Amino acid sequence: MENNILLNRLLGDYAEMIQPILEKKQAEIFGGNIKGRKYRKTLEALPEIKPSSIDVLSDRVRIGRKEDITPEEKNNLLHCLRQLNPWRKGPFQLFGIDIDTEWRSDMKWNRLKDHIAPLAHKRILDIGSSNGYYMFKMASQQPECVIGIEPYLTFYFQYHALQTYLQFDRLCCLPLKIEEMPVMKEWFDTVFCMGILYHRRSPLDMLLRIRSCLKTGGELVLETLILEGDADLALVPENRYAKMNNVYFIPTVPCLRTWLVRTGFHHIRCIDITRTTSEEQHRTEWVDTESLEDFLDDRDPNKTVEGYPSPVRAIILADAK
Ligand SMILES: C[S@@+](CC[C@H](N)C(=O)[O-])C[C@H]1O[C@@H](n2cnc3c(N)ncnc32)[C@H](O)[C@@H]1O
Repeated sequence: MENNILLNRLLGDYAEMIQPILEKKQAEIFGGNIKGRKYRKTLEALPEIKPSSIDVLSDRVRIGRKEDITPEEKNNLLHCLRQLNPWRKGPFQLFGIDIDTEWRSDMKWNRLKDHIAPLAHKRILDIGSSNGYYMFKMASQQPECVIGIEPYLTFYFQYHALQTYLQFDRLCCLPLKIEEMPVMKEWFDTVFCMGILYHRRSPLDMLLRIRSCLKTGGELVLETLILEGDADLALVPENRYAKMNNVYFIPTVPCLRTWLVRTGFHHIRCIDITRTTSEEQHRTEWVDTESLEDFLDDRDPNKTVEGYPSPVRAIILADAK
């Protein structure tokens, strides 16, 4: 878990401001919260093993080798990892155990990794960092720090389970919502905001917030659902979109550009547009919920079950003006 030494080292002057917020949250997680207490026991039960090697560069992030553990340790580890279901982002391999996650997050990373500004010696924020899959990729580039923000406890504890073995000392994940964080004015060099904007009731306020925590010239890596077309407009689902009840705005790329210009960004580049396929998002034995195939109309896979255009995502880079 995040301790004061780590926070002071990575967050400088902001550590003092964040510590009381974090202490209050941790008291909730380990006090009244049943999930929090269960997950803490899971972390404590993880077998103590030192991985002989790690590999965060390959698509499947690998921790250790199967030869590093005994059959008994393997059973214990498998049991702990299953306690942390559902595994949405990945894939991972831990000591020979493959975690096939709902999302092939490597596909998104491979679309953007060669386009973004180098991350060496940079201060990075990953909003909605989930179990840290992308943070681990970023760590390989020797950043000054990577701060992940992840309020959902299952993913937050998955991150800590993985970090038990990876031990990257420049990473820190906070179990907070972005709106619970103080605005760290002009502090970050790069902000990743991926899979977040369509969940915000007020996307422009979110972009303004991101702008204010970026240094001038810093880079936003924005990945979000888009509507295909050239018109300057956004879809607002009446109720659910692909069975999600928290999707508010799905803009076209020109509309997204306008939002970015109006919130203080320039040099806006759309580097990728991809329709989500079942190769990228699918049910696996590590995810006990519905997935893409359940969200699309079986008679017309170009439509969601609600009759909206099926999910298409864009990756946009923009510089803080
Ligand atoms: C669709 S997932 C995207 C995960 C990852 N960034 C990616 O692109 O694959 C959205 C993530 O944001 C987290 N999240 C939800 N509300 C949030 C908030 N208010 N602040 C920060 N993260 C949030 C969710 O728990 C989830 O892990």
